[in-house]
Amino acid sequence: MAHSTPYTIFFAGAVSVVCGVLVASAAVALKPMQDANKVLDQRKQVISVAGVACAETAADPAAINACYEGNIREVVIDLKTGEPAPDINPEEFDMRRAFKDETSVEAPQNAAKVLRLPKHAKFFQVVDGETVKTLILPIQGYGLWSVLYGFLALDADADTIKGITFYEHGETPGLGGEVDNPKWKAQWPGRDAYNEQWEPAIKVIKGSAGPPAEAPHSVDGLSGATITSNGVTNLVQFWLGENGFGPYLSKFREGRS
Ligand SMILES: Cc1cc2nc3c(=O)[nH]c(=O)nc-3n(C[C@H](O)[C@H](O)[C@H](O)COP(=O)(O)O)c2cc1C
Repeated sequence: MAHSTPYTIFFAGAVSVVCGVLVASAAVALKPMQDANKVLDQRKQVISVAGVACAETAADPAAINACYEGNIREVVIDLKTGEPAPDINPEEFDMRRAFKDETSVEAPQNAAKVLRLPKHAKFFQVVDGETVKTLILPIQGYGLWSVLYGFLALDADADTIKGITFYEHGETPGLGGEVDNPKWKAQWPGRDAYNEQWEPAIKVIKGSAGPPAEAPHSVDGLSGATITSNGVTNLVQFWLGENGFGPYLSKFREGRS
């Protein structure tokens, strides 16, 4: 049976409205779950780069949260001074938003292409009682196609690297995307972030670096992905430097923070 043109238009319009309402409702209803999953994913990344033992067995949300809450302290500092910001509740502080809010400032020109800097920054400490065992710093900067977001873990000497991980990037799988390769990430632990003058020195070189004892400041390049490799060098050095966590780390080393 053929329908009239107005009927067909009305029917198509009604179907569009109903589908639109369904999609919008689903998006709104699922938002809290998506947010909770993002927090959980970040917690998973933090415990895994922290190298805490429970990270290896924590598979479900309850175990991940227990592992995180039992080992990790969230800290918010004034990025420029490196001093703690006791008025800010770390749990409510959103670092990604802090890069864009009204307190953020334009970043000095830098090779990592970080455009703005937050006034405050959140990072993580692995604690055993009151003893800080590891510092986990958020890092971000440009590779070839995308901003890479990740974490760099440093030993309590604020120099020896314990691990690196990237949780978000858009580099090419098999090329720049090899930043996710566990074998490449295993290159980082045991190398030194800084040189003897406490300048950021760790870098991804072109080719093969050798073991940490022979090449304390070099990591193997990603083959066929020199631009991403250089991006990783730039972003890691930026966040270790004076415009990143440098002021906090030097205070921490002196036992003042
Ligand atoms: C489709 C395509 C995707 C690429 N993706 C990346 C990438 O993610 N990271 C990167 O550094 N280079 C990537 N490259 C290669 C770069 O253009 C460039 O050739 C490379 O970084 C040079 O590295 P090499 O000196 O180690 O060969 C890609 C090239 C093509 C054609």
